[in-house]
Amino acid sequence: MKKVLIFGSKGLLGTDLARIGKDLNYDLSAFSRHDLDITHYRILKDAIFSIEPDFVINAAAITNPLRCQEEKNLAMEVNATAVKHMAEICWDLGCTLVHFSTEQVFDGSQSSPYVESHGILKPVNFYGYTKAKAESYIALLQRLVHADHPLQYYLIRSSWLFGSGRNNFVENIFRAVSDTGRAEALYDQSSIPTFSSDLARRTYEIIAWELPFGIYHATNQGSATQFEVAEAVISLGGFQEAQIQPLYRKNITDRRAPLAPSVILGNTKLPLMRHWKDALMEYLTDLKNKAI
Ligand SMILES: NC(=O)c1ccc[n+]([C@@H]2O[C@H](COP(=O)([O-])OP(=O)(O)OC[C@H]3O[C@@H](n4cnc5c(N)ncnc54)[C@H](OP(=O)(O)O)[C@@H]3O)[C@@H](O)[C@H]2O)c1
Repeated sequence: MKKVLIFGSKGLLGTDLARIGKDLNYDLSAFSRHDLDITHYRILKDAIFSIEPDFVINAAAITNPLRCQEEKNLAMEVNATAVKHMAEICWDLGCTLVHFSTEQVFDGSQSSPYVESHGILKPVNFYGYTKAKAESYIALLQRLVHADHPLQYYLIRSSWLFGSGRNNFVENIFRAVSDTGRAEALYDQSSIPTFSSDLARRTYEIIAWELPFGIYHATNQGSATQFEVAEAVISLGGFQEAQIQPLYRKNITDRRAPLAPSVILGNTKLPLMRHWKDALMEYLTDLKNKAI
C-alpha cells in the first residue's frame, strides 16, 4: 500500500485529499497547520524522513491574496521557501512531491487559455508572486539535479476552488442569497470554477496512472465570471427571486489584492473533468443538506 503524507489537511483542498485518500485505502498521514508548521525546516524534514512516504502532497498555503499582500514575509515563507525545502527533502529521500499552484501565476493578458508549457509567469499580486516563486524553485532544482536521480514531482495548477473543506466564494454567494435574497459578484473577472473534491480525485488519478512528472492543469470544464457563478447558484439552487449586484474590479481595489481580468488554464495533458455547473449542482446539494 502506497504511503501518502498530506500537508495542509484542514484546508479546502486538503480536507478532500485526506477524505478521498482514506477512501482509496492509501496509508495516509495527514497534518494540519496545527499539527505541523511547514515553515519549520527541521520539523518538516524529520516528519518526511520518519514517515518515508511515497508521495508528499502539499496542500498547505496562504491563499488569501489580500493577506499575502499584507503579510509578505509569511506568504513567502509558506508559499515559496517551505515548498523549496519540501522539494529538496523529497529529492533527497527519493519520494514524489505533489504540489499545487494557481492560475494567478499568469497576468491574464493573453486571450487564449494558458497551457502547461507556457513558460512566462507574470503574476499581478503577491499571492501569485509567491506561487510563481515556488514553481521556479521546483524548476531550478529539477535542472540542477542529476538525470540518474531526478526530482519526482507533479505540479498541479488549478483555479477558483469551491468545496466543503472551508468557506469559499460559492458558499458566500449561497449564504448571501439564502439569508438576504441578494449577493454581490464580480462582473469583469473570469476563470474556471473547480470543485475541490474533483481536483482531489484527479490528483490521486495522476498518481495512480503514473503519469510523467511535470506540470498539469486540472480544472472542471467551462469558464465563468463570478457573476455567472452567482447566476448559476440562483438558478440551480432554486433562489429565483434573488438579485445579484455586479461588482467591477476598479471599484473594489481597497477590499482586494490586484486581480487579473481573466485567466483560463488550458489542459492539454489530462482527460477532461466534468463541467463546473455539474460539480456546482453536487456542491449546492451538500450545502442545502447542511443548512437543513
Ligand atoms: N482556493 C483556490 O481557489 C485555489 C485555486 C488554485 C490553486 N489553489 C492552490 O491549492 C492549494 C490548496 O488551496 P486551498 O484553497 O485548499 O487553501 P486553504 O483552504 O487556504 O488551505 C490551506 C491550508 O494550509 C494551512 N497552512 C497555512 N500555513 C501553514 C503552515 N505554515 N504550515 C502548515 N499548514 C499551513 C492552512 O491552515 P490554517 O487555515 O489553519 O491557517 C490551511 O488549512 C494551494 O497551493 C493553493 O495555492 C487554490
